[in-house]
Amino acid sequence: MAELVGYAIRDGVAVVTVDNPPVNALSPGVPESIEEAISRAGADPAARAVVLIGAGSTFIAGADIRFFETIPSREASIERSHAIHARLRRMEDCPKPVVAAIHGTALGGGMEFAMACHYRVAVPSAKVGQPEVLLGIIPGAGGTQRLPRLAGVATALEMCTQGNHISAARALKEGAIDRVIEGDLLTGAIQFALERAGPRRTRDLPVKPASTDEIRAALRKTARGARAPFACVEAIEAAMTLGFDAGCEREIQLFADCVLSSESKAMVKLFFAEREASKVPGVSKDTPAAEIRRAAVVGAGTMGGGIAMSYLNAGIPVRLKEVTQEALDRGLATIRKNYQTTVGKGKMTAEEMERRLSLLTPQVTYDGFDQADIVVEAVFENMDLKKATFAELGRVARPDCVLASNTSTLDIDEFARASGRPDKVIGHHFFSPANVMKLLEIVRGSETSKETIATSLKLARKLAKVGVVVGNCFGFVANRMLAYYIREANLLLEEGASVPQIDKVMTDLGFPVGPFAMGDIAGNDVGWRIRQYLKSLGKTRAEGPQSAIPDRICDLGRFGQKTGAGWYKYEPGSRTPIPDPLIEQLAEEAAKEKGIARRPIADAAILSRILTA
Ligand code: 3HC
Ligand code: NAI
Repeated sequence: MAELVGYAIRDGVAVVTVDNPPVNALSPGVPESIEEAISRAGADPAARAVVLIGAGSTFIAGADIRFFETIPSREASIERSHAIHARLRRMEDCPKPVVAAIHGTALGGGMEFAMACHYRVAVPSAKVGQPEVLLGIIPGAGGTQRLPRLAGVATALEMCTQGNHISAARALKEGAIDRVIEGDLLTGAIQFALERAGPRRTRDLPVKPASTDEIRAALRKTARGARAPFACVEAIEAAMTLGFDAGCEREIQLFADCVLSSESKAMVKLFFAEREASKVPGVSKDTPAAEIRRAAVVGAGTMGGGIAMSYLNAGIPVRLKEVTQEALDRGLATIRKNYQTTVGKGKMTAEEMERRLSLLTPQVTYDGFDQADIVVEAVFENMDLKKATFAELGRVARPDCVLASNTSTLDIDEFARASGRPDKVIGHHFFSPANVMKLLEIVRGSETSKETIATSLKLARKLAKVGVVVGNCFGFVANRMLAYYIREANLLLEEGASVPQIDKVMTDLGFPVGPFAMGDIAGNDVGWRIRQYLKSLGKTRAEGPQSAIPDRICDLGRFGQKTGAGWYKYEPGSRTPIPDPLIEQLAEEAAKEKGIARRPIADAAILSRILTA
């Protein structure tokens, strides 16, 4: 096995190089070897100082996440934490200045190792962070105790509870690093180390107390149901009130609570699943991918408008085509209103809104479609219409243009053939609201080319979406799961739970909205149309018992926010859901028809039924 940590003397400085590709994670053997090398340098007469650096593309990206699942118990977690804390203290006790030299990222345990060094320098492109919260845990190697000492409580709270990476420039400003090195990192770090008079232990620095009320209040809104962000706050509070040793002890206890939670296990699984999802069978990383510079969208409804906004937000000009001027005007008004809401919240300037809107060309013809690198179709969910649209696109678009469909349920292959170039046809299944939701299902038809898939994956990144390639099957992945989630919510309503109760159970768990509020945002008519289509084929969307209520609210024209009523009522121009007694009445009727006696249903039962479905 190659050496995990190298040791060399350069210009009178010991250079300790971590070499554990791909990201220099702290896998077994790495922390031990780093400590050993630093201890060796402490005793080495040839070394006046020490530089800790990463080989390859990055500094240390953190603990090896694969090993969290091997922690069998709380006691074992505490024992491991004590060992790593003690190791970092011994490193910090090195009698010679120890400098961490950071390029790429210093994340999690990587940042904690850097903070146990006496000083930190970084290249301008480097980033540092404590992203543990994104794995359902808190920094577990002194990060919650050393970061507030270096960067202050407010920055530590932000970094630990949000898990964001900060730039070298900001890290310098906040005190998390001591110098930005413009030239060669190692040379600069050695120079910096030789200039130091002696060690400076982070743990000896004072913590300036600050209030945590504001962050707690914000987290109660944004991190409902999550444990780790609040544990981060508790640990940083301990740094302010308890002193270093007792603060570390508190961190160790809180880390143990989090690392064994089902929340953390799920988030770790998600971390690896997201990386797995980026590997597409048969499409290697070097498959040629075209650059999308100009786009066109067909249909300016709920989805077409949001998709156009996603492109505009990425700086890509869009031609947006509708059938009638009236429908086009309606679509444009919605786009403008959405941007204005963002401007109203102070999240975008009015000039920026105008700049983005200036990239949009609304039209009722296919003029200029021959200049687009991609056309996204977002017309009604109807096979005949999609076929006709793709046949037309086959005529008007350039031969190398990607033709994407936002269909939720239809067979891509069927209308791909109508275009005359099925290798260029692919599903781009956005989620409502398309300009906000990050997931983009990239649906691979039987004739979709590798290049079309590679182009779509590259484009997804440009649009700031998480592109996941899925097969061409009914409902793809997300909606197949969603169908059962929704079915169960509807049945619970029929059996006696109320719309606001069910939604609240899900938002209390941490979902941004519950199933009914979501239906009202996305448009209840979308599912209604799909059910009608399936009925014509003798199929259903989810197996098992079904409730009649969703069809009934659509029969009443209650499509959701866009019609001012759905599962809730809405005041004109408002998106605030107001419970509507009419829904209770519809539920009573539906239950009666089935001979169900409606009864109170406990929140815990709702949660369990919805999630297990
Ligand atoms: N442990 C184990 N494997 C890791 C890892 C880690 N910390 N970080 C990345 N990897 C693996 C990925 O799974 C991937 O493996 P694969 O090629 O087999 O799929 C490979 O390294 C490359 O990762 P990416 O595809 O994500 O590469 P990028 O270049 O896009 O991103 C990165 C690099 C920014 C480092 C990103 O991988 C990342 O954010 N990693 C996680 C960092 C993190 O969360 N660190 C904290 C860990 S928890 C901790 O340190 C606890 C401590 O407080 C005690
Ligand atoms: P919508 O009804 O809001 O908009 C469809 C628009 O297409 C209408 O404005 C209509 O005038 C226009 N249109 C019809 N034929 C056209 C043509 N030939 N040229 C130009 N425009 C034309 O529908 P929505 O919800 O936007 O759905 C569009 C597609 O997106 C459907 O395939 C749907 O299944 C899919 N989808 C919908 C989601 C949702 O939550 N609403 C989510 C994901 C996908």
